[in-house]
Formats: sequence, C-alpha cells, structure tokens
Amino acid sequence: MTQLYSFKLNGAPVTLEVSSSATLLEVLREHLGRTGTKEGCGQGECGACTVLLNGKPVNSCLILMDQVEGQRVTTIEGLTGEGEPHLLQKVFVEMGAVQCGFCTPGMILSAYALLAENPNPTREEIREALSGNLCRCTGYTKIVDAVEVAARRLAHAGV
Ligand code: FES
Ligand code: FES
Repeated sequence: MTQLYSFKLNGAPVTLEVSSSATLLEVLREHLGRTGTKEGCGQGECGACTVLLNGKPVNSCLILMDQVEGQRVTTIEGLTGEGEPHLLQKVFVEMGAVQCGFCTPGMILSAYALLAENPNPTREEIREALSGNLCRCTGYTKIVDAVEVAARRLAHAGV
C-alpha cells in the first residue's frame, strides 16, 4: 500500500507517495537521490545511515515513513551551505579522519548533533556520542581528534 508523506528535508518541504513499509533510508536514497546517506548493515547496528530527525541522530534504516510525516530530516547534504563544506567536514579531511569515507556522513551528523547540544564535549563524551557509528578504517582516534578540533574552532568562531 502506498501513502502520501510530507516532511521537511534539509529545510525544504517534500511530498511524495511511497510504500508505507518503506524506510526513511530507502526513500532518501532511492526516491530523493540523497545518496550521501549510506546503507551498511540495514539493521540498526552500524550507524552508516545516520540522519537527524528533528535534530536528533537516528538510524534511518529503522525509521518508517509514518515516523517522518510532518517532521524535520537533515542529511549530510543539508550541512553544506552554498557548496561550502561544513567546518566539521573540513576538519575531518584535514585531520585524516576520513579513509574510505563510508562511515563519514553518519559520523559527522552524530558529531553535529553532539556539538549543537554540548559545544565543549570531553573526549569521553565524543566517544559516547559516536558509539553507534562504526568505522572499519580509522581506529577512531583521528575522528575523536577531529570533533575536538572542530568544537574548538566553532567556539572560537562564536557559532
Ligand atoms: Fe542503518 Fe547500519 S545501515 S544502522
Ligand atoms: Fe572507512 Fe570509516 S573511514 S569505515
């Protein structure tokens, strides 16, 4: 059964008709072309599909469209302002926190949500906030370093 859904995606209203059993991940990637959101395990275990739902990180592979109706969704594409990467994205590249890049959109969205709530996190708080995001490549240290540096720069910039 298909159904009409309306929500805000990266600040813009979206209305589309999809199966009521579709996940937000499927809708983003297959219907809306937002392929920055990655599919890893498809079971809520890897965090590659992380997006923000009303500002909170969620695994979009576990979210059904009924939960999205009327809500706000932010994907990695929504962090990029006028073609400029977000400061978190710049710092991840600068600090070598990206290798294959598969986990990176989800990591950055989890980090973004953390810094929105806690602009000056400890390393432990950063690790905790990113604990649902798995990375096979980096060993995590450079990712935690990058979030720390980004937090300092954002604080310095008064963001
Ligand atoms: Fe959603 Fe792994 S693809 S948690
Ligand atoms: Fe490859 Fe994280 S950079 S999985």
